[in-house]
Amino acid sequence: MKAVVVTNFGAQPELVDLPTPEPGPGEILVRIHAAGVNPFDWKVTDGALKDSVQHAFPLVMGSDGAGVIEKTGTGVTRFRPGDRVYGQFMRLPQGQGSYTEYTLAEQDGKIAHIPQTLSYTLAAALPTASVTAYQAVQAARLAGGHTLLINGASGGVGQSAIQFAARAGVRVLATGTSDLTDHLRGLGAHSVIDFTVAPTHEQVAAAYPEGIHAVVDLVTPTGGDISPMAGLLRAGSTLVSTNYATDPDALAARDILGVNLGNSPTSETLATLAELAAIGELRVRIDAEVPLADAPAIVAKARAGHATGKTVIVP
Ligand SMILES: NC(=O)c1ccc[n+]([C@@H]2O[C@H](COP(=O)([O-])OP(=O)(O)OC[C@H]3O[C@@H](n4cnc5c(N)ncnc54)[C@H](OP(=O)(O)O)[C@@H]3O)[C@@H](O)[C@H]2O)c1
Repeated sequence: MKAVVVTNFGAQPELVDLPTPEPGPGEILVRIHAAGVNPFDWKVTDGALKDSVQHAFPLVMGSDGAGVIEKTGTGVTRFRPGDRVYGQFMRLPQGQGSYTEYTLAEQDGKIAHIPQTLSYTLAAALPTASVTAYQAVQAARLAGGHTLLINGASGGVGQSAIQFAARAGVRVLATGTSDLTDHLRGLGAHSVIDFTVAPTHEQVAAAYPEGIHAVVDLVTPTGGDISPMAGLLRAGSTLVSTNYATDPDALAARDILGVNLGNSPTSETLATLAELAAIGELRVRIDAEVPLADAPAIVAKARAGHATGKTVIVP
């Protein structure tokens, strides 16, 4: 089978031939029809988890995928060959991921069925970005009428977070460049803050001098200065970071809950999101669909930024 791998931390991704794996007890073999691209994919191959998780090389890149079950191992009861499934397929100790024609998953893993009406491309675009968005909005402790800033709203996580928050009756302030204003408003943003015109925190502070109820920050990197975001918040509010940039103890002194969120999909959450996407209640914009052979180039392009939706690899 064809797969996109790295041979060590920091190595360039390359397209290679690998033996197709066989499912062991409790495992399913999935023929991947679409693989979603996320910043996490290259953070991992750059070594973000090298001190905490064992990695096997060559390591197939990618986490998110959607496809059809080709074979099941002994003891598999949740799934059958022919089932359409999607979820997160990254298994670093086994060197397995989703940028490939075939991959394995555990039946009890982060996998769910796909509704018949949901395409593989849309399904593959969901797991990491939309689960993170869903859990970030939940973590933000919002109620109808509250005001939320999503910093980094124009990318994969942000666009889904806008929709979850707006559906809960929250006033969503979304960052994005002027070319995306109509799109982000169409997803439910109350206003769009062009972060290239003036710093986001200055624009929000000017419009909401009394403070806002939550920030979901998708931009400040680990170890970066998140204090401009924290400075926008009123007492009793929440600051959620997807890059482990908050210091919950320091924020607690100001009566702000700091949350460093790591997404944690369950098959129930995945099933809910797939259903919402299938009925058009969760909209995902696809930036590009590319063949597996172009994955190394598309990873290089995605690393440079400027996502306005999701990129999906179609093996
Ligand atoms: N902890 C977790 O479980 C988890 C899960 C998913 C994602 N994440 C992290 O969350 C972040 C967002 O993920 P994603 O998938 O949404 O990434 P993405 O699709 O690449 O989107 C990031 C967006 O942020 C925008 N942006 C960059 N700098 C900005 C700034 N200064 N102000 C406002 N917007 C800015 C980018 O636009 P431009 O490039 O055009 O500026 C892009 O549209 C990434 O760091 C990712 O690693 C963490």
